[in-house]
Amino acid sequence: MTYKDKVVLVTGGSKGIGEGCVRVFVEAGSKVVFCSRGQQAGKAMEAEVNKKGPGQSHFIACDVSQVDQIKSMIDATIAKYGRLDCLINNAGWHPPHKTIDDFSIEDFRSLLDLNLVSIFAACKFALPHLRKTQGNIINMSSLVAIMGQPGAATYVATKGGITSLTKALAIDEAAHGVRVNSVSPGNVYTPLWQEAIDAAPDPAKCRADGDAAQLVGRMGTIEETGKLCLFIAADATFTTGVDHILSGGAELSYGRKSRVS
Ligand SMILES: NC(=O)c1ccc[n+]([C@@H]2O[C@H](COP(=O)([O-])OP(=O)(O)OC[C@H]3O[C@@H](n4cnc5c(N)ncnc54)[C@H](O)[C@@H]3O)[C@@H](O)[C@H]2O)c1
Repeated sequence: MTYKDKVVLVTGGSKGIGEGCVRVFVEAGSKVVFCSRGQQAGKAMEAEVNKKGPGQSHFIACDVSQVDQIKSMIDATIAKYGRLDCLINNAGWHPPHKTIDDFSIEDFRSLLDLNLVSIFAACKFALPHLRKTQGNIINMSSLVAIMGQPGAATYVATKGGITSLTKALAIDEAAHGVRVNSVSPGNVYTPLWQEAIDAAPDPAKCRADGDAAQLVGRMGTIEETGKLCLFIAADATFTTGVDHILSGGAELSYGRKSRVS
């Protein structure tokens, strides 16, 4: 697959799934702008990725929970490359698992800002440019948006919002030739997943359970996620408003759900 000379913006690209997207699109010849909050990891990755090519990357520090910073990042992308072909809204966070009793209203509001309002804002600011190129948007949702997840009411609600926002925008933007899709990963091994393993009472069991949750017997990789995004952007031109599940079969078949002895 090639996406040569197309301009792609990836939020949260310094590690994890976003890093996979940056690497795969640069390998496909794209010009990839990516962000994270801190400078160091992003700048180091930019230099490393650019040595390999054949595309190029450009890092911009941006906290996506700050809407003015998202606007500046999109303006800077257009100032540098003059166009935008694909927006990948990937940055997001999964808080530690708790019940609703232990999440405050403020916890929920701030996660909404980070996971959902940021995507609304990035789409809003990017769409005038994407309409000119008949480009596309890929929003990183989650399999748990449709399955639910224990101890994750706030996170699951933000991801449900992303899947629904994607479908509504796909309808409105069809008139402008812009496709809007979401990707819903199940378990992809990333630094975020490693945080959950480290926080678990039995980290080895947590990793083994994570691998066993898929029919394919392992978690997905960041490269596999990047490749699906590249396919949606470059080749899946009859696809809009679709939630692309990338799960290794995690959602199939019955599992043990109730606490019967
Ligand atoms: N890993 C999984 O199994 C999985 C499953 C379903 C959905 N997802 C979603 O995929 C996305 C990426 O997850 P991941 O596992 O790669 O996470 P990660 O924590 O490993 O990486 C997240 C990236 O986002 C950046 N980021 C975080 N907060 C930011 C902010 N405020 N502003 C800018 N950048 C910020 C980080 O710097 C990093 O580059 C998230 O939206 C997550 O909800 C992940």
